[in-house]
Order: sequence, then structure tokens, then C-alpha cells
Amino acid sequence: MSEQSWVEVCAENDVPHLEGRRVVINGFYVAVFNTEEGFFATGEVCPHMGGPLSDGDVAATTVSCPLHARKIELKTGVVHNDDLSRVLTFPVKVEEGKVLVDARILYTQPEVEEDDDEQDAVA
Ligand code: FES
Repeated sequence: MSEQSWVEVCAENDVPHLEGRRVVINGFYVAVFNTEEGFFATGEVCPHMGGPLSDGDVAATTVSCPLHARKIELKTGVVHNDDLSRVLTFPVKVEEGKVLVDARILYTQPEVEEDDDEQDAVA
């Protein structure tokens, strides 16, 4: 397992104001959001039925899941007005126009060897 903390995921300009973008860190989908209070990052998958959070509408520091509109607080990962489990959140910083995510928790997961046959089947 490799030790990794801050990972550069995109340029600041890659995520328009009040939008999100999906990035991949160590094989995991992570959603990066540009909000009124700066950048935030969460897991990409909505805990309700798996909606892609990076495609949701951003307002203040929440995102509305594009599938059924549950609102998720980007600072805490809490799903508003619902008993659903929280979404994982990650520290984010912007340096010299680059967005960096502290994704060390994702590097505690077992490494997966790439399977060339599986890659071909998906393509
Ligand atoms: S999948 Fe996100 S609210 Fe239903």
C-alpha cells in the first residue's frame, strides 16, 4: 500500500462555479464541487440509489442528487431530511490554480491489479 495524502485532481478552472465534476482517485470516484464557499469533495455515489452527485445542482454548500433531489451537505456529507447514511467527505485545497484532495483514506484500501481482459470487455 502506498502512502499518499494530497492528490492533484484537476485545475481550478475545470470546475465551473456552482458545478461539480467527477474525478478518479486510486480507482475511486470522487465528486469535486466549486461552491460559494470554495471547493469541496465527497464520494460520488448518492447513498439513496447511487445517483452521480457530481451531476447535481449546487447551491450554497449543498448538492441536490440528480436522480431524486435529496440534498447533501458538502461540508459534512449529511443527507438533509433523510435517515440515509452520510456521504464520505474529503479535505480540499486550491494551490496555484490546482485543486488538491486529501485522499489518504482511499489509499488504505487494498491495491487492485489491473485486469487487461476486463478492460477490453468494457471498452
Ligand atoms: S439516488 Fe440520489 S436521491 Fe435517489
